[in-house]
Amino acid sequence: MKKFDVVVMGAGAAGLFCAGVAGQLGLSVLVLDHSEKVAEKIRISGGGRCNFTNVDTAPANFLSDNPRFCRSALSRYSPRDFVALLQKYQVPFHEKHKGQLFCDRSAEDIINTLLAECELGKVTRWQPCSVKNIRFLASSAHGVSADSYEIDSDRGIIQSSAIVIATGGLSIPKIGATDFGYRVAKQFDIPMVETRPALVPLTFDADAWAPFAQLSGLSLPVHIATGSKKERVVFHEDLLFTHRGLSGPGVLQISSYWKPGTPLQLNLAPLVDVAATLSQAKASSRKRIANELASLVPSRLAETWVAQGAALGHNWERPIMEASDKALTALAERLSRWELLPTGTEGYKKAEVTAGGVDTKALSSQTMESRQPGLYFIGEVVDVTGWLGGYNFQWAWASGFACAHGL
Ligand code: FDA
Repeated sequence: MKKFDVVVMGAGAAGLFCAGVAGQLGLSVLVLDHSEKVAEKIRISGGGRCNFTNVDTAPANFLSDNPRFCRSALSRYSPRDFVALLQKYQVPFHEKHKGQLFCDRSAEDIINTLLAECELGKVTRWQPCSVKNIRFLASSAHGVSADSYEIDSDRGIIQSSAIVIATGGLSIPKIGATDFGYRVAKQFDIPMVETRPALVPLTFDADAWAPFAQLSGLSLPVHIATGSKKERVVFHEDLLFTHRGLSGPGVLQISSYWKPGTPLQLNLAPLVDVAATLSQAKASSRKRIANELASLVPSRLAETWVAQGAALGHNWERPIMEASDKALTALAERLSRWELLPTGTEGYKKAEVTAGGVDTKALSSQTMESRQPGLYFIGEVVDVTGWLGGYNFQWAWASGFACAHGL
């Protein structure tokens, strides 16, 4: 039987970081992963360049049943701290926009940094290694000197006084995502917040979407909103039309807040006053409405937009001079207040993250220890979900750091 102070399950962002810090604090640490390669999500993140943090990180950038939970960890390990770590290894990076920091070279720089930190902490790494069973040995019942855990792994039985679950969420199963962390929570009666795909493209009824499918590949800046007046959420980001629906940063952001059965509101021309511009053009222009509209939005969108008129009782496929004020107002309204009802999402196969997860009610916000003594949860497996833009990795680092210092 092998003995460690801590066994970290999951060698992804949170697990590797936590293991490195804990090792450097003097604990004997094993980090194991069922995949052959560590940190596959870091490798594919940010288009291969890993958006590893966001300099503007604040609790408001996270969703959770308990929005206050993430505060303590985020304040104790900030984006500046992670940047300092990268500077120690001379990893070059740059800010793309909106505070998002990316590697100049590749996401491998982040993985190598985490592995080097593990090395410094003399962390033992086993992968691939799967866990079949976890047993809690309470000192009172088992005659051992302190509470501990026995873990049946395919490399034999391991004993440790603490277990850190860092096995992530359900998104992208083809690169190793599993429900392992949620099953462990269930085994120890730790409550869960229902999971759902987040930062995910949205889909629409095929017939309703048919007129817009031809816009696939088109990207433009929009305002996108969802929710009732009281809890309205708005993002100002790019939108991407796809064959099946909508994607792009704006849609991924709103998807985390979107509730099935509720509509989205979109302004496809947020930087211009479409009604005023069309009304002005009507006075002097001989062009078709679509051609005038094409000076405000991409021409493919303009053509698709005027073609919808017939179904809505308007003739928008005509010279702008001949259009009534009412028709032009209706056209402008549809463009700037387009309401549409998604039927679903592309699911965990395409989601960047999983919202929901281990209920923070059962965790200490200082250490991430659960109400089951010696059992900790960090990273995406916890019901803390960041916006798009480097926030999810910052949560992985911050929760891993808090945990390592609490072990
Ligand atoms: P993570 O998923 O990183 O690690 C979990 C580990 O546990 C994996 O190595 C897995 O193999 C292992 N595991 C799972 N089940 C197991 C089992 N049963 N036994 C043993 N091991 C098991 N975020 C961000 O901030 N910036 C970005 O640029 C991106 N980009 C991005 C792109 C894409 C395509 C995706 C899918 C996601 C992102 N993200 C992101 C999100 C980010 O990748 C994610 O939030 C973090 O990786 C979560 O870190 P964790 O360590 O919690 O889980």
